[in-house]
This record gives sequence, structure tokens and C-alpha cells, in this order.
Amino acid sequence: MPVTVRTGASVGRHARLVAALVALALATAACGGSSVSGGKTGGKTGGPVKVGLVVPLSGVYAPLGEDMRNGFQLYLNQHGGKLGGKEIKLVSADEGEGPQTGVPATTRVVTQERVAAVVGLVNSATAAGVRDTVVSAKVPLIVANAGANGVTKGGSPYIWRTSFTNGNVGAALGPEVAKQVGTGTVYIITAGYTAGKEQIAGFKQTFQAAGGKIAGETYTPFGTTQDWQPYLSRIRSSGADAVFSFYAGAEAVNFVKQFAQFNAGGSVKLFGTGFLTEGGVLSAQGPAAAGVQTALHYSNLLDTPRNEEFATAYRQAYNEEPTVYAMQSYDAAAVLAGALSRASAATGEAIGKALADTGTVDSPRGSWTFDENHDPQQPYYLRKVENRNGKFANVVVSKLSNG
Ligand code: PHB
Repeated sequence: MPVTVRTGASVGRHARLVAALVALALATAACGGSSVSGGKTGGKTGGPVKVGLVVPLSGVYAPLGEDMRNGFQLYLNQHGGKLGGKEIKLVSADEGEGPQTGVPATTRVVTQERVAAVVGLVNSATAAGVRDTVVSAKVPLIVANAGANGVTKGGSPYIWRTSFTNGNVGAALGPEVAKQVGTGTVYIITAGYTAGKEQIAGFKQTFQAAGGKIAGETYTPFGTTQDWQPYLSRIRSSGADAVFSFYAGAEAVNFVKQFAQFNAGGSVKLFGTGFLTEGGVLSAQGPAAAGVQTALHYSNLLDTPRNEEFATAYRQAYNEEPTVYAMQSYDAAAVLAGALSRASAATGEAIGKALADTGTVDSPRGSWTFDENHDPQQPYYLRKVENRNGKFANVVVSKLSNG
């Protein structure tokens, strides 16, 4: 279904209005004898701690949401339904495709369900749209995917992220593409909303600093594009030697398949951020994705004992390969568990404070820590899609120095 994504100033205005209404609703509830830190949140009075899990269950990003739910649930199951020794009541809400569904879903779990913390969010524009709401409600949000650069800026005790910033994941691949393309040029094509724009900006910065040249740029309408042929013709006439791209979910499947047809001789190299070939997307692309090179902070083929342990448990539980989305929300559960075990009470304020003492996270991606903005300081990897025993997979080629 075609969806209009609200962007820029109108999201900002809308978000501030919603935040003001949330603050008013919470203040009114407090006057009536209830508060966010009271019994309804759970935990403090011995009942379960309510945690909101807001991920897409519909729209182009629904498969990503399912992976995130699985990752979170796996950690919970491995710990007997508890986080940090506290019984958890998960409250799920559908983020949908963008902010027009994701913002009200998040607002509902905060104001009506009175959760102690929120985990999830795939879409950058949704994360930007709920930021003010959770901060004014003093309910910690652990973003487990959405990479919007500005969401974490300033290091609020109520905003944390276990995934990435769009700019960094794009920047990670710039020097490598410049090296591979040499004196040739790169065409940029991406989903035309916050995530695509910011990932491309990060890429361009390090690519151009390394001497790379851009042949042209196209930003395709998000969530509605089905046919890439007109855009692929532009790439052809630009004479580019390579393409750099951000797409995820259903858009990544369609784009990579259509690109493979267009590039039948294989003369144009395809690069992107790792979402382009991740998880179920890669299975659906099959041979069309062979040779695609991407940067990401994870591959399910990472050869470490920690990843082996995680990937084995995930395969056993769900009969499928783990993805970056599952791993990011597995880590979100681990981080929240740590905070709940240290927090003086199961309140938003106490959890927010305790998150600051997270320290090093021993993750399937490799060890990482929160930086001053509460984003992961983490390794990035160069991955190449290869056929491994009849299945296409993101083989880890090297660790990237930039990121
Ligand atoms: C985002 O909107 O931030 C986003 C969505 C899907 C991805 C990565 C980033 O795979």
C-alpha cells in the first residue's frame, strides 16, 4: 500500500506537540495518585516489569521486525523470562512502515501501558518522531535498529542505541570503494528518506576524502517504488563503474534483483550498507546478490566463539539464520538486563541512570561500548556475498578501519 512518509520540519513540529501532550497526560495521571514510577510500571511492587517492544509487524520492514522480536525473545528465553533477575511483561506494538504508525504505537505503550522502558524501532523517521515523547515521559528508549544521526545527540539518559548511526555505517565503506574503483566513478541510488540520505552522506564524506568521484545520485520514493528500470537507465547513461546503495527489507530484494538483470554482464560493481543483503532479503535475492560488497557491524558468519554460541542458539530456536536485526535487539535485551540488575528501582529514571554503567558489551558482533551519545563504538566489517554450500551468505572479507 502506498504510504506517505512525513519528514523534516513537519515531523519535528508533530513530535514536539505529541511530547507536550504526553507530559500533560502523565502529569494528570500523577495527580490522580498514579505515576510512571508506581505500581502500574511493575517491578517496584514485586509485579513484572513492563517493557514495550515496538517493531514493524506490517509494511516493507515487517521481516526486520520479526527478526528483532526473535532476538529479544531469545535472550529472554535464555534467562527464564527475566531480565536482570526481574520478571518481564512484554507489551508489543506494531511500528508499521513509518512515523505515521510508529509514533502513535510508541506513544501508546508509554502513556497507556505505562511501560518502564521501550525497545525496538526500525525506521529512522519514527525514532526521530518519538524522541521528545520518551524523554519528557522519562521512559528509557533502547533503539535496536533505526540509525537517525540526531536521535542520540547529546546523550540523554533516556535515549540509548544498540545498532549504529546512519552516517557511521555509510562512512565505513568509503575508502574501500575508492580503492577498488580507482579512477572510475560511482553512482549513488538509495531509498529517499532519513536513513538513505544520512548513510549516503556518511559514505560520500569518506569516499570523496579518499579521492573517489561521484557520477550521479538518485533518491527513490520510500515504500512505493516497485520499478527501478528508469533509475537503472540513468546509471547506464552516467557511465558509472560502480553503484553504492542503501535499501532494506522488500525494497532491497526488488532493487538487487532488478539491478542483476540490468547488469547481466557484471561490469558494474554493486556496493552498499549491509542491510542491502541481510537475512531473509539475501535468501530472496539468491544468485542476483552474488558478488555484492557491503559494510556492516555484523555477519552471521563471524568466526568468534561468542557469535557461534548466539548463532547456534538462534538457529535452534527459529530454524533460520540470525541477522543484524536479531543481534541488535538481543544486545538491547542484554543491556536492559544489566541496567535492571543495577537499578535501585524498576522506574524509568533509575533504569536510565543504570544504563550509564553498562561498560563493555560482550556481543556476537564483537565487544563494544556506548560512546558519549549512547551509540555503539564498534567494529565494521567488509562482507561479500558468496555461494557457500549452495546458500548465499555474507562472507567476512576484512575488518574496516573507518566507521
Ligand atoms: C532506518 O530507517 O534507520 C533503517 C531501516 C532499515 C535498515 C537500516 C536503517 O535496515
